[in-house]
Amino acid sequence: MPTRQEVAYFGAGPAPLPTHVLEAGAKAFVNFNDTGLGLGEISHRSSTANEILAQTKGDLSTLLDIPDNYEILFLQGGGSGEFSAVVQNLVAVWVERRRRKAEAEIRQTLSRGDGEEDKARVEEVVVKRLQKEVEEELKLDYVVTGSWSLKAAQEATRLVGAKYVNIAVDARTANHGKFGIIPPEDTWSLTPTRKQGGKGSAFVYYCDNETVDGVEFPAFPKSLEPQGHENPEDERLIVADMSSNFLSRKVDVSKFAVIFGGAQKNIGIAGITIVIVRKDLLPPQTASPPPSVLQKLNIGGLPGPIILDWATTAKNNSLYNTLPIFNLWIAGQVVAHLVKTFGDARISGQEEIANRKAALLYEALDKYPNVYQVVPHKSVRSRMNVCFRVYGGDADKEKEFLAGAEKRLLQGLKGHRSVGGIRASNYNAVPLENVQRLVEYLEDYAKGQI
Ligand SMILES: Cc1ncc(COP(=O)(O)O)c(C=O)c1O
Repeated sequence: MPTRQEVAYFGAGPAPLPTHVLEAGAKAFVNFNDTGLGLGEISHRSSTANEILAQTKGDLSTLLDIPDNYEILFLQGGGSGEFSAVVQNLVAVWVERRRRKAEAEIRQTLSRGDGEEDKARVEEVVVKRLQKEVEEELKLDYVVTGSWSLKAAQEATRLVGAKYVNIAVDARTANHGKFGIIPPEDTWSLTPTRKQGGKGSAFVYYCDNETVDGVEFPAFPKSLEPQGHENPEDERLIVADMSSNFLSRKVDVSKFAVIFGGAQKNIGIAGITIVIVRKDLLPPQTASPPPSVLQKLNIGGLPGPIILDWATTAKNNSLYNTLPIFNLWIAGQVVAHLVKTFGDARISGQEEIANRKAALLYEALDKYPNVYQVVPHKSVRSRMNVCFRVYGGDADKEKEFLAGAEKRLLQGLKGHRSVGGIRASNYNAVPLENVQRLVEYLEDYAKGQI
């Protein structure tokens, strides 16, 4: 029976967590801070729960330098839940901005007052105009660079219909049908903004790190840089899925409308999803459109489920319904530890370590090009999910490689079932020693010494 120290686990998520957090968690699960109750038992409305929530939010803000004009939300439903939530919430923002404008203009032209009949007549005309705008102008831009952004785009299509979804780029088309590159940005066909002579899109979506395919954006895409705008309608709202590289590098949060990610890679255990959303996309600045208006617009199933509604979650300080406080506490402990460990360097301290560990792995792989072939192009190699083939994907050799790794208790190395191959996930809680053990195995296997 191997001990925890003996196993080096490289699973892609759920993923390793710091042992000290798990040990403290085991205690807190049974008897939190000598209260006689476990964290899975206390009310999510208790003062203890509220303190955990406030502390975790504060530490996340510190660690990631999250500006004051952003709200941090904790939800359930995982990254996949947010694939739907992004559509539900940002299409609602798109509609509401136009609804307000239409209402103001129509009120003037119809010279209507505030009586019930006046309101109903105005709403009727507003809805007609919105129906036309939805039909002719609603677009959701997706940058598809791997399996997860593809899934997000598929969910958007399922919800609202293909007609409204613009696949600005599908990286497979430029790479023999497979993910593994990020095509040059001048080949992307984003919906033109109003400044560019178009009508703009409700948002532009991308996945910062593609867990299955080992593709990571090396930096924020240049073409998505904010361009200075006087009118909110001219702005591109950028959404990023950071499920698998959250807390692994410095991010300029101010460039994003929304960042989201499930906890179960770098942050904690499954069951908590973190959403960082710009406050002006929430009430009071942007209220949700009245459900009666959305229903008449016939945009897929909108309005969607209330538990995915960011405005409701924000209004209730993430406690609209029962939040798993134990899972939140685990995430909070991981974040607090990073804050304490890296001090003023904040997340850049962790970034340095992540980069160093990834470099060790890629160096070892590149040393034996006849034995190992890294899947993604060099320019977009993920620092979190190192995907490679053994002898060009020879099934027997890859089996042999995995069996040899298993003998050394190097586990969780099998590639995602959809793509095969080998994947070593290098999340924050994977210690340098474990990476070194894997490097040693890579060397030994390449030299035939297993
Ligand atoms: C980048 C990315 N996005 C989304 C998801 C989906 O997350 P969940 O399983 O929490 O729905 C994953 C899961 O591995 C992921 O890696």
